Amino acid sequence: MKFFAINGSPRPKCNTAQLLDKALEGVLDVFPDAHVERINLYDFPFHGCKSCFACKRINGKHYGRCVQNDDLKPILDEIVQADGIILGSPIYLSDVTGNMRCFLERFVFPFVAYSKTEVVEHKRMPLAYIYTMNASEEISYQIGYHDLHDRFEMDLGGVFSKPEHLYVYETYQFKNYSKYVSDAFDEKERKEIRKNQFPKDLESAFELGRKIAIRAKQHD
Ligand SMILES: Cc1cc2nc3c(=O)[nH]c(=O)nc-3n(C[C@H](O)[C@H](O)[C@H](O)COP(=O)(O)O)c2cc1C
Repeated sequence: MKFFAINGSPRPKCNTAQLLDKALEGVLDVFPDAHVERINLYDFPFHGCKSCFACKRINGKHYGRCVQNDDLKPILDEIVQADGIILGSPIYLSDVTGNMRCFLERFVFPFVAYSKTEVVEHKRMPLAYIYTMNASEEISYQIGYHDLHDRFEMDLGGVFSKPEHLYVYETYQFKNYSKYVSDAFDEKERKEIRKNQFPKDLESAFELGRKIAIRAKQHD
């Protein structure tokens, strides 16, 4: 079985990456022999959808598939056959990161049939989404970050399956707060959250991975 984690953070070792790795560990806890792999969306160049509509063309060679032949193409070809996928992204300016959005356009849109009768045949697999952010839980509700997931739930759920999700708040942003203009945050408090809350978040990510693996088992 194959499971992928898609990292929408440009930082390959920070909060989102660590949570995704834990989720993959959760998958391995259920399927010790599974192939698990983290893909970092900032490791290679690619664009979002170019609106060419090759994926919607009547009798088109690329119907239901993205025609763009770049570094993302072989990855898309592989992950659409996956048994489960865990997406993760920091919140940037109240949305997921730019590269994650570009990825989602290419991953999801070709499978959206512009038809009342036709469907695009493809594999449906369990999904999860991990969101990391600077905001506290309270502020994230006030600003409406949770609406973000409602939107993704609709887009991803319509095509693949309703995603499980995990929100991780008040992440540790720098190794050394004293080097940055950051007096909007209480460094001591952030250190406490890192020490006491982040391990619990990692545990939740592990459980999320287990859930995706168990759902994949039920899909079989
Ligand atoms: C360009 C940029 C924009 C950001 N915008 C937000 C934001 O709108 N809301 C928020 O809560 N955090 C924001 N953050 C903080 C990140 O979401 C947060 O630190 C995240 O956990 C970083 O993930 P990483 O450690 O995996 O890179 C922003 C960070 C950057 C670099």
